[in-house]
Amino acid sequence: MPSDEWWREGVIYQVYPRSFQDSNGDGIGDLQGIISRLDYLEWLGVDAIWLNPITVSPDADVGYDVADYCAVQPVFGDLSTVDALIAEATARDIKVVLDVVPNHRSDRHPWFIDARSSLSSLHRDWYVWADPKPDGSRPNNWLSAFGGPAWTLDPRTGQCYLHNFLPEQPDLNWWNPAVRDAFDDIYRFWFDRGVAGFRIDVAHGIVKDRELRDNPVATKDDPAWVRAHGQRSVYNVERPEVHDVLRRWRAVANTYDPPRILLGETYVRDVRSMGRFYGQGDELHLAFNFTYVHAPFEAAALARVVAESEEIIPAVGWPVWTVSNHDVSRVMSRWAGGDERKLRCALLSLLRLRGTPVLYYGDDIGMADTRLRKADLQDPLGKRFWPAPRGRDPERTPMHWGSEPGGGFTNVGVRPWLPTGDVAARNVADQRRDPSSTLRFVRDLIAVRRQRTDLRSGAYQQLPSPAGVWAWQRGADTTIALNLSDEPVRVPAIGGAIVISTNRSRDGERVEGGLALGPWEGATCSSAST
Ligand code: NOJ
Repeated sequence: MPSDEWWREGVIYQVYPRSFQDSNGDGIGDLQGIISRLDYLEWLGVDAIWLNPITVSPDADVGYDVADYCAVQPVFGDLSTVDALIAEATARDIKVVLDVVPNHRSDRHPWFIDARSSLSSLHRDWYVWADPKPDGSRPNNWLSAFGGPAWTLDPRTGQCYLHNFLPEQPDLNWWNPAVRDAFDDIYRFWFDRGVAGFRIDVAHGIVKDRELRDNPVATKDDPAWVRAHGQRSVYNVERPEVHDVLRRWRAVANTYDPPRILLGETYVRDVRSMGRFYGQGDELHLAFNFTYVHAPFEAAALARVVAESEEIIPAVGWPVWTVSNHDVSRVMSRWAGGDERKLRCALLSLLRLRGTPVLYYGDDIGMADTRLRKADLQDPLGKRFWPAPRGRDPERTPMHWGSEPGGGFTNVGVRPWLPTGDVAARNVADQRRDPSSTLRFVRDLIAVRRQRTDLRSGAYQQLPSPAGVWAWQRGADTTIALNLSDEPVRVPAIGGAIVISTNRSRDGERVEGGLALGPWEGATCSSAST
């Protein structure tokens, strides 16, 4: 593989920095801690790590409210720790991808402090301001993704500012060329330091309708999540002009050797919209597929999303898959309901589709969401809507490295920033020793992927299969089948031999007369070994 295309065939591992490894005993993960776990990541076989924001933030939205884009949050380290992380990761052939937040900034960022100081301040037009209506109501009906109106009145100047998320996260005005220039500089700052690329927060939503038109109110024909929100967000996200900005960023990324990658958080819920963010190979390299994440864990539904994605993602693009992240319930809880067999089927799909897998920390050992008390919560959404809908803390709890108190994440006796949960049930130390563990399964899945060109780059083709089963071929000789049902089945289209199965005792088994699978069992097979 050409080295500048590592992101097509590699596996990306998402590290939530606050929860990966605490190196200084303050109960919060940090960059030095990540460095100390690079040997583990190398052993696991990943090609890159993506870190959630590590930049300076007052943490109204746990790092997604950035107050300084070119400095490190002191609790994580400093720029020299980033340099050390990049150097140590590079020595292990692991790339470092950071997270950038261009849609909004912290209300404590100097630009916003200046912007709100007067109607004529230098940075006033760097944000989105509008007069309240004559009756004092908000400029339009836009709602924040976090609930409530997307506008807050700023009493000093009498205007409202826009925030698609928290009031502490004012949206930038991406119509302003100065904002665009300033972001190019932020990208260059990090790319120059050797960062391999960026995961781009809200990549689909940064440009807003220039006329600030009202969003259409949801109707009974809209999908459930639109109805729950109350409106179709057609004017405050996913405007066509966002593509100009993405092309501009791609051009910046392409000036580097190797080109830096752009991995977009394209939080749209239909595949056709997601596919547009690849442009003509001149926008995002990878656009996250949230339709897959939110699909029910059913063979027909998952196969449908993948078939549609295969059809829609342009040939110049490349799919990217994930089954968990810091905003959605962990796959062990969401899809698997705590059932190891189901978890393995989900992980098998993640690491066997055509495209780049992004593995969320802790999914390597099958961590479940952690049950939390109200007093434990850190996520503003969790606090605001307690007890429902659940906030995002349950999937952000510390990594389980060992069974000792603190789970090897922090020192014994230190209170971690979020409770660790049951570290004895699933942890790296125990699972590393156990050849039948989830961790060894994930590691072997990655290793097999590395060995087989079919799995890294071969075409995807769905195979005929009985109800409840999803089967597909990759490249010339590799087939995969998942029985997502409670009944034993036989998949006639699959022969050869099992390379790796969710039921490890079947690895190497010859397949005669079709592949027989037990309930919630899956396998990768090789027809070449007949
Ligand atoms: C998406 C991020 O993943 C999420 O954690 C954050 O709260 C919002 N964007 C706002 O930045």
